[in-house]
Amino acid sequence: MRQAGRSLPEYRKVRGGGSILDAIRTPDLATEITLQPVRRYGVDAAILYSDIMTPVASVGFGVDIVPGVGPVVENPITSSADLDRLRPLEPEADLPYVLETATAVAAELGEVPLIGFAGAPFTVASYLIEGRPTRTWTRTKAMMHNEPALWAELLDRLADQALAALRAQVVAGAAAVQLFDSWAGALAPGDYERFVLPASAKVLGGLADLGVPRIHFGVATGELLGHMHRAGADVVGVDWRVPLDIARSRLGPGVALQGNLDPALVVAGWEAAASGAREVLRHSDGHPGHVFNLGHGVLPESDPDVLARVVDLVHTEGRADGQPSLLDP
Ligand code: CP3
Repeated sequence: MRQAGRSLPEYRKVRGGGSILDAIRTPDLATEITLQPVRRYGVDAAILYSDIMTPVASVGFGVDIVPGVGPVVENPITSSADLDRLRPLEPEADLPYVLETATAVAAELGEVPLIGFAGAPFTVASYLIEGRPTRTWTRTKAMMHNEPALWAELLDRLADQALAALRAQVVAGAAAVQLFDSWAGALAPGDYERFVLPASAKVLGGLADLGVPRIHFGVATGELLGHMHRAGADVVGVDWRVPLDIARSRLGPGVALQGNLDPALVVAGWEAAASGAREVLRHSDGHPGHVFNLGHGVLPESDPDVLARVVDLVHTEGRADGQPSLLDP
């Protein structure tokens, strides 16, 4: 569960004030925070405590993550001169603390896999261009359409950074990787295919030789699922807007799915969360290619006890036998 730690009192206790980037740069702290949701919830995997903006921040681009707001960029990208601030990433030199955290976490976890991650080129580019979170992505889409050469160069640089970051995380101990294209659902399928898919395919394709499962995630991407799979994903993230049986009919039986409980149902309380979780399991119907997850990150106001009970419910009632249920049409 992404950002599962946000709702935990033990997270708030150790996190301290200041930028999350400072916490990420402190391996002892980042290791402890990565392990907290595993201890508390007994989930089947851990996700590295870092952020999609860590690589660009580490090459000195000039970005901060403001609590309650999200990534904020002082000088957003407007022209090709700004690309000079995006040099190639050298993970061992630029992100030693992330690799140290991944190594320590993997050693602590033993059999439980660590999921490494990076931001996909489109979603990271959207923050670098807009300067802060947006609901319309107008500047981003304007650059994509009006300055396609600059756009392509920007996405290519971000693809190289994401690929380098992910490869280094796998070498350090990550057993799977997730590429977060959280806001790709803002795009028309044709624009995704033309302006975004090539860069994401460079990242996912560049990981193929490592043999780790590649998860590709976005929000409101129901119409993009096929493209996101074709970009080179083994597992496609689905949010709550598309039932898993429909997602599976779009992608075919050979593709694993991740999702897709609505995070708001966890906030609503145990009754709503339990019936939502059972609905997800019913739609997956014992298919072995299913990673149960929320459709997006845990909301900060979630009750940890409700989340713990959701994990227990999935462990108790989830099936992966591949046998279609006869009882529940
Ligand atoms: O569970 C975990 O701790 C996993 C680590 C993780 C974080 N960010 C830490 C974080 C992961 C996997 C991310 C990914 C991330 N970051 C994404 C992709 C996933 C998604 O949610 O769609 C995106 C878009 C970001 C950018 C970002 N960082 C946003 C929009 C915010 C929210 C701002 C806010 O305060 O509400 C952040 C901050 C952030 N990153 C927090 C955490 C735990 C919460 C605030 C904090 O503790 O400072």
